[in-house]
Amino acid sequence: MTSATRTQVGIIGGGPSGLLLSQLLQLRGIDTVVLERRSRDYVLGRIRAGVLEHGFAELMREAQVGERMDREGQIHEGVYIAYDGRRERIDLHALTGKTVMVYGQTELTRDLYEGRDRLGGKVIHEAEDVRPQDLNSSHPYITYRDGSGPHRIDCDYVVGCDGFHGVSRQSIPKDKIQTFEKIFPFGWLGVLSRTPPVSSELIYANHERGFALCSLRSATLSRYYIQVPLSDTVQEWSDELFFEELKRRLPEEVASSMVTGVSIEKSIAPLRSFAVEPMRYGNLFLAGDAAHIVPPTGAKGLNTAASDIYYLYHALVDHYARGNDRGLESYSSRALARVWKGQRFSWWMTKLLHRFPDDSPYDRRLQQTELAYLFSSERALASLAENYVGLPF
Ligand code: APR
Ligand code: PHB
Repeated sequence: MTSATRTQVGIIGGGPSGLLLSQLLQLRGIDTVVLERRSRDYVLGRIRAGVLEHGFAELMREAQVGERMDREGQIHEGVYIAYDGRRERIDLHALTGKTVMVYGQTELTRDLYEGRDRLGGKVIHEAEDVRPQDLNSSHPYITYRDGSGPHRIDCDYVVGCDGFHGVSRQSIPKDKIQTFEKIFPFGWLGVLSRTPPVSSELIYANHERGFALCSLRSATLSRYYIQVPLSDTVQEWSDELFFEELKRRLPEEVASSMVTGVSIEKSIAPLRSFAVEPMRYGNLFLAGDAAHIVPPTGAKGLNTAASDIYYLYHALVDHYARGNDRGLESYSSRALARVWKGQRFSWWMTKLLHRFPDDSPYDRRLQQTELAYLFSSERALASLAENYVGLPF
């Protein structure tokens, strides 16, 4: 026997997008259920991004889950770009009046789960075979199974927050959606280590051996990345080899002060740009990684998910509290306008900083000139900075 329940907004996926939306909606009296395929521990075991735009931090505070972030997160006023043996600081705060918050996605997700617990939010874990149904009708519903059998949740709207591999986007007929995609010919090998970060601000490095990034999670936790060929495996990269290669790609003054250590996480992520249009099909709305992904170079993935949630949250509040559907009708075009700016910036940063295997000497000269121009022009730096701290929602 299928058990049936009802909610206003059925949310598929309990990552940052789904949890933040359900938290914000509940605070405005809108009922949601979140269906997550994995266990809570599994979701919290994923190591992902770490830089939050100012607007995202504000949304966390509005969702009443910003306390620990404000206590433990680090406000960063600048970032470095290293190239040609030198390191240039970009003063984000002087250029834009804004800053970014360094706070791990893992911590942010933990805070969101705690927020959901505190408000008694419904988050169902290990939901199997989740399927959104009848999306084009005014009575969509979601079916799923768990240990106790099959279930059905009737809702007004379904929101697909189930990431790149989720079921929501795949439920849209192919001829109703257009896909845009670019796959980059390399990956990032990332290491998390319990060592003091080599720099208190992030360093993005362009080097002839490939890109490198020095990031951090706290005063005692470093996050480092190097560009590697897609054919490399984690097994080939011992911690020693990783740190040796990382140091080679950094200016001498940085490399010589690097504290190396044992990795507590090591993984290779491919770089991909992807977006679908529109972000709505009938009464299904897509948000976050379910609709778009970017290469991590500009730290825009999680932040672009946050802007989707901002638009959708306001649209749903306008619908339920004011009977105004304009926000829902314009959700896809408003979200996409900002999504594409994130795509552009991430692609630009990726092009600026990586070695592309097929680049000609001409391409290389253009890359060098792009860097030289950037650091010779306050306006070019301001353009980078305003994108890095986050364009307005
Ligand atoms: N049914 C239910 N849940 C699912 C399904 C499914 N069929 N498929 C995937 N999920 C869950 C995943 O287990 C995951 O917890 O959906 C969640 C999606 O979370 P994320 O992939 O983290 O995506 P999102 O919440 O949009 O977060 C934004 O921006 O740059 C990125 O990596 C960053 O994860 C971050 C993302
Ligand atoms: C990270 O800390 O994981 C990180 C920071 C900045 C990026 C990408 C990843 O651009």
